[in-house]
Amino acid sequence: MRLSKEPLFTAKVIQRRVKELADEITRDYGQQELVVLVTLKGAIMFAADLCRALSLPVHLDFVRAKSYRGTLTTGTVEIKVHPEVSLAGKHVLVVEDILDTGNTVAALFDRLSADNPASLTLCTLFDKPSRREIPVPKSYVGFTIDDHFVVGYGLDYEERYRELPAVYTLDGNPE
Ligand code: XMP
Ligand code: MG
Repeated sequence: MRLSKEPLFTAKVIQRRVKELADEITRDYGQQELVVLVTLKGAIMFAADLCRALSLPVHLDFVRAKSYRGTLTTGTVEIKVHPEVSLAGKHVLVVEDILDTGNTVAALFDRLSADNPASLTLCTLFDKPSRREIPVPKSYVGFTIDDHFVVGYGLDYEERYRELPAVYTLDGNPE
């Protein structure tokens, strides 16, 4: 596996888009408190920049979901880290790195909605709609991309490349 020579998205382009998303979210929620639920680990860089660009009160918490693929029960998702805050009656924004088949988010939303939040919305940095297997509710999307495996800015291939400020594609097949 090799990194693409040129980034797919430079740090500058990412930062500009994150600011736009934050402005849109700030406008949509007004001054209501927002529980920002960051999905570990891939979304941490995105969430850190997004939160600092929001102009509303944020309660930050984390969730970790592990999906299992290639079994009869596609979409089996185990929640490894649960949010500490109670979501009941709260406006919840789940921050994801990338939306692919949709199975992880669908299962996560299923579980989180059992806590009766006032609203539950997804904000994902990347969306690969061509790979969708399960519908996902309308979300804030940073960039819609073709079916590339992308790394950098939090996203990894076997735990590598998360620290890169730009996003690259991997040449070759990661799976
Ligand atoms: P699903 O298919 O459930 O999965 O929507 C989403 C999760 O799969 C991982 N994923 C990626 N990770 N580069 C990555 O680093 C990618 O291009 C990629 N595509 C999917 C990721 O963990 C995401 O949360
Ligand atoms: Mg992820």
